[in-house]
Amino acid sequence: MAKYRLAILPGDGIGKEVIEAAMIVLKRLNLKAEYVYGDIGWEFWCREGNPLPDRTIKLLKETDACLFGAITSKPKEDAARELAPEFQGKGLSYVSPIVKLRQLFDLYINLRPCKAYPGNPLNYRDHIDLVIVRENTEGSYAGVEFFPLPEEVRRALLVHPKMKDFKDVSGDEIAVSTRIMTKKGCERIVRAAFEFARQNNRKSVTLVEKPNVLRETGGLMLREARRVAAGYPDIKFFEANVDAMCMWLIKNPQDYDVLVAENLFGDIISDLAAQLVGGLGFACAGNIGDKYAVFEPTHGSAPKYTGLYKVNPTATLLAVKMMLDWLGETNLARTLEQAIAEVIKEGKVRTYDMGGSAKTLEIAEAVAARL
Ligand code: NAI
Ligand code: MG
Repeated sequence: MAKYRLAILPGDGIGKEVIEAAMIVLKRLNLKAEYVYGDIGWEFWCREGNPLPDRTIKLLKETDACLFGAITSKPKEDAARELAPEFQGKGLSYVSPIVKLRQLFDLYINLRPCKAYPGNPLNYRDHIDLVIVRENTEGSYAGVEFFPLPEEVRRALLVHPKMKDFKDVSGDEIAVSTRIMTKKGCERIVRAAFEFARQNNRKSVTLVEKPNVLRETGGLMLREARRVAAGYPDIKFFEANVDAMCMWLIKNPQDYDVLVAENLFGDIISDLAAQLVGGLGFACAGNIGDKYAVFEPTHGSAPKYTGLYKVNPTATLLAVKMMLDWLGETNLARTLEQAIAEVIKEGKVRTYDMGGSAKTLEIAEAVAARL
């Protein structure tokens, strides 16, 4: 009897190849699961006018969690041109399916572990083991933006004294993006960071913000963070400005533990931290809500490597590890992580990014052989 029903969404390009690698490892782990494959990506935008078909959403709703590969997305003009003739001129617009998934399932946590596995020649330094907890649904990526600026929005903004400086700029010469933060959004992301810290024996949580300049949104986040932190006296709480944090992450990355940030700041420090521990071949993310979660490597479909089975599947294998943890299969997660760490340490089977010539599936087989 299968204990879990898991959705597998390979997507485009190398997404399919790294998911194939993940399945080798999952089958070997003998997880009691049923795997159901779903459609997502550029192919479905072109053919059906929807990169995330309704049948895929239905399928996800009938599963416990999802493993996602990668998709291709292209600029507006290409999206219009490549759309099948029967869908042209119908006013369809391309929406990133991963962004849509985050909204649909309220996956408000973006969990990004960054660990320097010993022996990885791409490590910037040893002993880095930090986890970024990024807010995934609001902040600077809430998506509320204007260009040209509608007159009624300009009038509404004029309640703010600083807006007077821009009162004579014409609507088609001014673009406005908002940074929307709610008390609920701030509270729950900071709480998620502290809960993660407690459950994983982490010593500290650092809030990465900019409340000295972004006084209202940053201030709200800071107040909520301090209030939540007071409920976790066993875990140290630090506050840092995002710009300074970028310097410190280069200077002393080994000093940091759990970092929590809003969407844009979290996105930036996640990529910075990913490069400290090997880059795209090692960077994975969990998009996690209260009831559902989607796990993925953070890289894209890498068109130039598609079909070559050259890319590093480690990020996807680490995403599987994270999924196992989330499902509560902590022993299997630990076993998998140890096997990945051994393959990295031994250094015999390495993909091109690590200076080797092994193929994608050879890494998966080397990991599977240690399970
Ligand atoms: P990309 O992440 O696909 O690849 C950039 C480069 O990083 C590759 O050419 C390769 O040199 C390296 N790389 C990526 N994954 C690797 C791996 N597993 N092992 C070793 N090296 C790896 O980013 P790019 O080229 O900017 O975007 C390609 C497509 O992917 C675009 O259509 C973009 O919109 C989409 N994309 C999708 C994402 C997703 O599905 N979550 C995330 C980022 C980009
Ligand atoms: Mg990013």
